[in-house]
Amino acid sequence: MFRKDFPYFQNSKTIYLDNGATTQKPKSVIDSQVEYYEKYCANTHRSNFGHANKATQEFEKTRGLLKEFINASKNEEIIFTKGVTESINFIASSFAKDFKTVIISSLEHHSNIVPWHMQGRTLGAGLEVVNCNENLDFDLTHFEELLKTNPNAFVSITHISNAFGKIHDIKNIIKLAHEYGAIVMIDGAQSLAHFKINVQELDVDFFAISGHKTFAPTGVGAIYIKEKYLKDVKPYQTGGATIHEVDFTGSTLLDSPYKFEAGTQNIAGIIGFGKAIEYINYVKYENIESIEKNVFKFLNEELAKLPGIIFYNDMDNCIGSRSFNFEGLIHDDIGILLDKMNIAVRVGHHCAQPIMKKLGIKGTIRVSTAFYNDYVDVDKLIEALEKALKMLKD
Ligand code: ALA
Repeated sequence: MFRKDFPYFQNSKTIYLDNGATTQKPKSVIDSQVEYYEKYCANTHRSNFGHANKATQEFEKTRGLLKEFINASKNEEIIFTKGVTESINFIASSFAKDFKTVIISSLEHHSNIVPWHMQGRTLGAGLEVVNCNENLDFDLTHFEELLKTNPNAFVSITHISNAFGKIHDIKNIIKLAHEYGAIVMIDGAQSLAHFKINVQELDVDFFAISGHKTFAPTGVGAIYIKEKYLKDVKPYQTGGATIHEVDFTGSTLLDSPYKFEAGTQNIAGIIGFGKAIEYINYVKYENIESIEKNVFKFLNEELAKLPGIIFYNDMDNCIGSRSFNFEGLIHDDIGILLDKMNIAVRVGHHCAQPIMKKLGIKGTIRVSTAFYNDYVDVDKLIEALEKALKMLKD
């Protein structure tokens, strides 16, 4: 129904099931890139001529759209970044570095592990990891123990596991963390393509957002910073467009968001991000959620019929990604055969090596869906997997 809005599907025969890596872009997003470069290409927040003003207006329009989209209370709480990786690195180095303890979960992407290692934190030495159970559910009891023994910690947790699709109950995680004086950042890389985020209702302190996983261009994302922390977070880079006054004796910075957005930004990408938000508002989350829920359930039921399939978690509280292996087969071999049959999935560790190690595997085959995937895509995937299994077993 909505697939016609995505030129990729008119130009490609590929069954695209790698949405956890990046999503396809609707025509309105793609057109906005060409329009900016062809019709009003100029820098923002600097020059004062017609196209420069238009570029600034369109850029700031995205900030306003994103503020409404996630229900932030002020535009100043929305800082543009390159994506979730930059958002996490920014907050890790400019705010969280002085915390005695950082608590993460077992299901983190490398982007929410390595920045902490770069600060010299390892397991038990400034970094604590919340256990998960055999279905990869977050262990709230263990979390509470960690909060108790490490008061006033910084908690940085993924909302949805990119590798396994498990949704963490972030509302309760945030509530519990706050009871023990902790401050919470949520890695929302996989969230906004699937459901509505309301930062005020969640009472989250920092929320990292990906543009390209939410139908926007690559190289753009944001970090939501709750107003009360805007003064405590230090810019992690400075330069043009961040300052109020400079002379050789010193500099004074502008207020948020400008003090955090040094240098020329990804102007086209940010304008495109605004178009992606408008597109989701047009499709509506209630449609996204109901389409996805049904297709994802069907995907799981059909996969479960395949001989020798190994899953690593149940389907409770899951969306987007389903990861599996086949007994006696190597995931890379399946990936190569699926590619030959025009099926795009990701195989490997999905930038989540610690959880793969915990499960005693090198990686999985990951099928990751978005709302434009349908039952026919699932049928074609299953058909291709059956063929691949036959080829590898015969
Ligand atoms: N983080 C992206 C993924 O899960 C790239 O594939």
